[in-house]
Amino acid sequence: MSAGNLIDGRSIAEQIHQETAQRVAALKVRGVQAGLVFVRVGEDPASKVYVGMKEKTSERLGIASRTHVLAATTTERQLLDLIRQLNADEKVHGILVQAPLPKHISETNVFSTVAPNKDVDGFHPVNVGKLLLGDTTGFRPCTPAGVHELLIRSQVVTEGVEVVVLGRGNIVGKPMAAILMQKGKNANATVTICHSGTKDISTHCRRADILIAALGSPQFVKADMVKPGTVVIDVGVNRIPDAAAKGGSRLVGDVDFAAVQPIAGKITPNPGGVGPMTIAMLLQNTVRAAELMAI
Ligand code: GUN
Repeated sequence: MSAGNLIDGRSIAEQIHQETAQRVAALKVRGVQAGLVFVRVGEDPASKVYVGMKEKTSERLGIASRTHVLAATTTERQLLDLIRQLNADEKVHGILVQAPLPKHISETNVFSTVAPNKDVDGFHPVNVGKLLLGDTTGFRPCTPAGVHELLIRSQVVTEGVEVVVLGRGNIVGKPMAAILMQKGKNANATVTICHSGTKDISTHCRRADILIAALGSPQFVKADMVKPGTVVIDVGVNRIPDAAAKGGSRLVGDVDFAAVQPIAGKITPNPGGVGPMTIAMLLQNTVRAAELMAI
C-alpha cells in the first residue's frame, strides 16, 4: 500500500500540540495556569479510554486537569450542581462532560448548563448559534474543527468545491456543514448533508470532491461511491465482531479503507486520522478559553 495519499492526523495533531504547549507556557509566565476539568458519569468503557487519553495529553502540554467520576446513578440535578460549581471556579477554564450520559440525564440540559466561555466542547447553544452565524468568537466542536484543520494543513482547497457530509449528528455532521459553508477563506464550499432519509446516497457521494463520513456505520463508504481523486475523511469509530482479534472485536471506521484508499486523492487512516485531531482541538480550545479569561 502506498502511503502517498494519507493524511497523517497524528503528526498534524502533534504540530497543534506544540503550538498549544507554547501558549500554555506563555500564560504561565503571566501567572495563569490553564485548567481543564473532565466529568465522566458511569463506567462506559469507551468514555474511560477517551477521557484517559485527553487527561494524559493535557498533562503533557502543561494544562492542569482533573476528572470527576460520578456514579451511573447520579441524578441530573447533582450533575448540574457540579457544573455550576465548576462554572464559578476561577481556576477552571474548560469543562468537558463526556457523552454519552446515562439515559435518565438530558444531554441538552447538561450542555446548556456549562458556561459558554468554558464550553471547550462547543456544545452550548450559544456556541452552536455563533458557529452557524459565522461569529468566530465562540468555541467550535472539536471533531469537526479537527477535520477542518486537517483539510487546511493538508492544503486541501475547499472554496467552491462539492463537500458531501454523511451524517447529521449534533457533534459532527451539522457543525461540519456549518464550518465549510461559511463565506470566507478555507470554507465557501457547496455542502450536501446525507442522512438516513436521503434517497440514493451513492449518487450524492460520487459528486463529492471532499467526502466526510460521520454516520456511524462500519465501512459504509465503498469504492464505487467515490469519484477518483476525492479527499475522503473518515470520522467513524465502530466496534465490530472479529473472532481473530483480541477480545473478539476490533474498531473500524465508516470507510472501507482498503477499497477506497487506491482511488482517493487523499484519505485519513483510521485510527490515526481524525481521532488525534479531536484532542488537539479540545486543548487548543482550552488554552484559548484561558487566554480570553486572562485578558
Ligand atoms: N463523546 C463523543 N465525542 C465527544 C466529544 O467531542 N465531546 C464529549 N464531551 N463527548 C463526546
